[in-house]
Amino acid sequence: MSIQQLQASKQGGPFIQVTVPIPKPNAGEICVRPRAVSINPIDWKNHQFGTMVDSWPAVLGIEGAGIVESVGEAVTTFKPGDEVMCWVQRSQFNGAFQDIFTAQEASVAKKPATLSFEEATSLLICYLTAAAAVVIGLKVNIPGLLKPDTSSTPLQSILVLGGSSGVGSAAIQLLRAALPSATIITTSSSAHHDHLRSLGATTCFERSAQHDTAILKAASPRAYGVDAILDAVGASVEAPAVYEALKSDGPKLYSLVITRPGIELPEDRQSTMVGGQSMIDYDPSAMKNLAKLVEEGKYKMPVKVDVVGKGLQTVQGSLDKVMKVSGVKLVISL
Ligand SMILES: NC(=O)c1ccc[n+]([C@@H]2O[C@H](COP(=O)([O-])OP(=O)(O)OC[C@H]3O[C@@H](n4cnc5c(N)ncnc54)[C@H](OP(=O)(O)O)[C@@H]3O)[C@@H](O)[C@H]2O)c1
Repeated sequence: MSIQQLQASKQGGPFIQVTVPIPKPNAGEICVRPRAVSINPIDWKNHQFGTMVDSWPAVLGIEGAGIVESVGEAVTTFKPGDEVMCWVQRSQFNGAFQDIFTAQEASVAKKPATLSFEEATSLLICYLTAAAAVVIGLKVNIPGLLKPDTSSTPLQSILVLGGSSGVGSAAIQLLRAALPSATIITTSSSAHHDHLRSLGATTCFERSAQHDTAILKAASPRAYGVDAILDAVGASVEAPAVYEALKSDGPKLYSLVITRPGIELPEDRQSTMVGGQSMIDYDPSAMKNLAKLVEEGKYKMPVKVDVVGKGLQTVQGSLDKVMKVSGVKLVISL
C-alpha cells in the first residue's frame, strides 16, 4: 500500500510527487490523512532558505486537518476515523504535504464540529504561537492553560505589532479574554482595523506608526507608554524605535515571535522569544484547550481562510503567494 508525498527536490527547487509506503505510527504518534493543509510563511522560508531543513529532498508543511488513519501504542485519546486538526513537527520525510502524515499526540486535537477542515487547519500554529507569546512572553494567564510563574501586577496596556497577521489577531483575542479592561493598541493596514477592534483591540494604527512612537504612546493610558510589546511579525527588528513606546517605569515586557534565525534579544527589558513549539513544551494540553475554546464559542477565526488550491500539485504555486498575504490564511483542500 502506498501514498503520494510532495517532496521539495532541493532549496528553491521544483516539487515532485513521489510514491512511498504508507507510514506506520510509533508509540505516541498518530497518522492522519489530511483533507486540508495550510500554507505558512515558514513553508516558504524553508523552501527558499532551508531555514528549518536539514536535508533535501524534504517534505514541507506544518499544519493539516483530516481523518485519523492509524494510532501508535499508548495513544488513548484518538482512534482511526476521528476528525482532527494537527500541528506537524517536521522531519525530512514527514510534513503535512502528503497523503498521510504523522503527528505527536500532544500536537493533535479533535476538530471542532462547527469548523470545516479548511478552517480547522488554519487555526493551529497561530494559536500556539500567540498563546506562547502571551503566557510565556508576557506572563499573562489564559484560562484553561498552565498559569505563568509570576506574581507581578496584571498588565494594563499592550502594543501588538502586526495585529492583522494570523499570530497577531490570535494574540489580540487571547489578550482581550485574559485582560478585559486592558488597553490593546495594534498596528496593521487600515482595511483590518474594524476586524481587529471586533477581536478586542482598543486602538488601531497603520504600520507607519511603528516609526512614530509619539502616536503610539499618545494612545496608551495617560499617554505614559505601554507596559508590554508583543511583536507577532518581527516588526521591531526593523523598527527598533518602537521600544520607546514602553512606559519608562513599567515592567517593560517584550515578547517576540521568532520569524527567522539569528535575531538577538535586547537586554535592557524583560524579553522573551517564542514559537509554536514553546507552547506545546510549556503546556502539552494547549491544543485541547484550543478545541475547547472554539467549541464554547470563546475563540473566533483570527483571520479569514482563502482556499487557493485543491490537491498537492497546487502547493508550489500557493507558496509564491504566502509572503504577500494580508489578514488571510492560505489553505489547500485535498
Ligand atoms: N517560530 C514559530 O514557531 C512561528 C510560528 C508562527 C509564525 N511564525 C512567524 O511569525 C510571523 C507571522 O506569522 P503569520 O502566519 O501570523 O503571518 P501572516 O499572517 O502571513 O503575516 C501577514 C501579515 O503580517 C503583517 N505584517 C507583515 N510585516 C509587518 C510589519 N513589519 N509590521 C506590521 N505588520 C506586518 C501584514 O499586515 P498588513 O497587510 O495589515 O500590513 C499581514 O497581514 C511570520 O514571520 C512567521 O514565519 C513563527
